[in-house]
Amino acid sequence: MEQPLVEFSDIYKIYTMGDTEIRALDGVSFSVHKGEFLAIIGQSGSGKSTCMNIIGCLDVPTSGTYLLNGTDVSTLSDNQLAEIRNEMLGFIFQQYNLLPKLNVLDNVKLPLMYRGLKDSEQTARAMEALDRVGLRDKCRHKPSQLSGGQQQRVSIARALAGSPSVILADEPTGALDSKTSREVMDFLAELNQNGNTIILITHDNSIAATAKRVIRVHDGKIIYDGPADGDDIIRSTVLSQKEKEAAI
Ligand SMILES: Nc1ncnc2c1ncn2[C@@H]1O[C@H](COP(=O)(O)OP(=O)(O)O)[C@@H](O)[C@H]1O
Ligand SMILES: [Mg+2]
Repeated sequence: MEQPLVEFSDIYKIYTMGDTEIRALDGVSFSVHKGEFLAIIGQSGSGKSTCMNIIGCLDVPTSGTYLLNGTDVSTLSDNQLAEIRNEMLGFIFQQYNLLPKLNVLDNVKLPLMYRGLKDSEQTARAMEALDRVGLRDKCRHKPSQLSGGQQQRVSIARALAGSPSVILADEPTGALDSKTSREVMDFLAELNQNGNTIILITHDNSIAATAKRVIRVHDGKIIYDGPADGDDIIRSTVLSQKEKEAAI
């Protein structure tokens, strides 16, 4: 079988506060392969962000092994880590994290600037990514001149511009209304159909239903790992939505 892009083996993240111990991740193991669309779901405080931060090399586990595309990230220097993160991972955040003083094009170019590409190549790749999210004509606008949904599409373009192996999205629809959320999720699903690997973090069952695979975490432990429609809570959420739609 092909080498996983992400491989967690018995990962623990333990915070000690005085004499209490918080197990944010309590022995978590899973692998993600190329082409997957995975949602990590759980209630607030279940360990989702901790998991995402470790996958994104923004945090390190207390114990356990994390292999990113076969490389044990704990063996890397800070520079090597920054490089592998820039090349392998594209980030999408709830609050978009766009720089307000830069226009849309420069925001999308940002991750490419660290790669030593020629400016003309950075621009070409950024424009191509903006094309994919349908915002080429907004490239000279400032983020504040765009709607929330458009700003999130800019942040998706920024994640795509570097052709990352994995797109990490932490509550990407958390700041959006339900219609715009749907559009962003449909777009992520389309990216996945075109071969992109996506790991989505959410507390929202109807959002997680878009993914193909779901890992449900509770108190830092995995309590379900399988197809999205095999998770009882997601299945009943989707069913009750269909009933509501049928009643209208
Ligand atoms: N820096 C920290 N110090 C102490 N406890 C933390 C820290 N970060 C997270 N936690 C705790 O770890 C648990 C998991 O947090 P988190 O991963 O943010 O959950 P989620 O994203 O699912 O809401 C929570 O109990 C949280 O309070
Ligand atoms: Mg969180």
